[in-house]
Amino acid sequence: MKYTDLGLVNTREMFADAIARKYAVPAFNFYNMETLNAVLNAARMTHSPVILAVSESALKYMGSDMLMGMIMGANISPDEKMALHLDHGTSFESCVRAIELGFSSVMIDASKLPFDENVEITRRVVEFAHQHNVSVEAELGILSGIEDEITFGDKASYTNPDDVEKFVRATGIDSLAIAIGTSHGAYKRRRDDEELRFDILADVTSRLPDFPLVLHGASNIPQKLITIINKFGGKLSGARGIDVSQLRRATNMNICKINVDSDLRLGFIAATRRALAENPQNFNPREFLSAATTTMSQICADEIRDIMGSENKL
Ligand code: G3H
Ligand code: 13P
Ligand code: ZN
Repeated sequence: MKYTDLGLVNTREMFADAIARKYAVPAFNFYNMETLNAVLNAARMTHSPVILAVSESALKYMGSDMLMGMIMGANISPDEKMALHLDHGTSFESCVRAIELGFSSVMIDASKLPFDENVEITRRVVEFAHQHNVSVEAELGILSGIEDEITFGDKASYTNPDDVEKFVRATGIDSLAIAIGTSHGAYKRRRDDEELRFDILADVTSRLPDFPLVLHGASNIPQKLITIINKFGGKLSGARGIDVSQLRRATNMNICKINVDSDLRLGFIAATRRALAENPQNFNPREFLSAATTTMSQICADEIRDIMGSENKL
């Protein structure tokens, strides 16, 4: 399937505009009808471009036919500037499969490999993807993936600015994800005053002027959601994200794609826990699923306005 037949666009024009006007295009992860609808509703309500991100495990969970059926059912128009993006692709084959399914953008994440191997696999993906006018994101540096234990930075390493020009030139990528202190999951910082490494970001930006940069692990982890989850039986104490002010600062320094998954997971769980606790007689799942969709959509819309700055940028 060609992505243009699905009304999708690749990320090239989106990112050029985002850099010129200093905002970030949101990349929200989805994995079922509710998460997809929440993102679509928010993007349409706020007139924001959006990247619909699917991880390999989310693709496996939905199944490719069901996923592409939902994208068809979303009736996306090219004017809405929506991309369908493979998040953290782990192999050349995985990226090829996504492109053949109808994805308009892929990430090849070989950042854990030695530099030369990262270049080699990324270059192969770019060569294939560009034949299909699909954009490619790759990564330099390693984010820590803290999920449930507070174990900061064990395998993480910041992006080395000395590497970026060579990597971009050798691979031909369209955007570069960098590691400046963000991390995946809900436990990102030990202290409230912990800052991202803006010195590294500034160095990268000076070496790659006007080149699209990407921030993974950038959820804000709204404390009001943590409070609701813990009040209704959850156990997520100590969860902390990236401050709005730091994310806004990053969007002024060529970060033109910000990835958010955890905030929507928290919204889904907070709304579900509350709905089930407040209405124990209910046994119609559509009631708590509707509440979850509304909450996630509100989170997306708030972040589009307050973090991404992408409202009314179509
Ligand atoms: O960056 C990773 C995303 O949060 C996706 O996570 O593989 O559990 O869908 P997942
Ligand atoms: P969060 O866990 O901070 O939402 O990051 C998501 C992400 O980077 C997806 O690629
Ligand atoms: Zn990520």
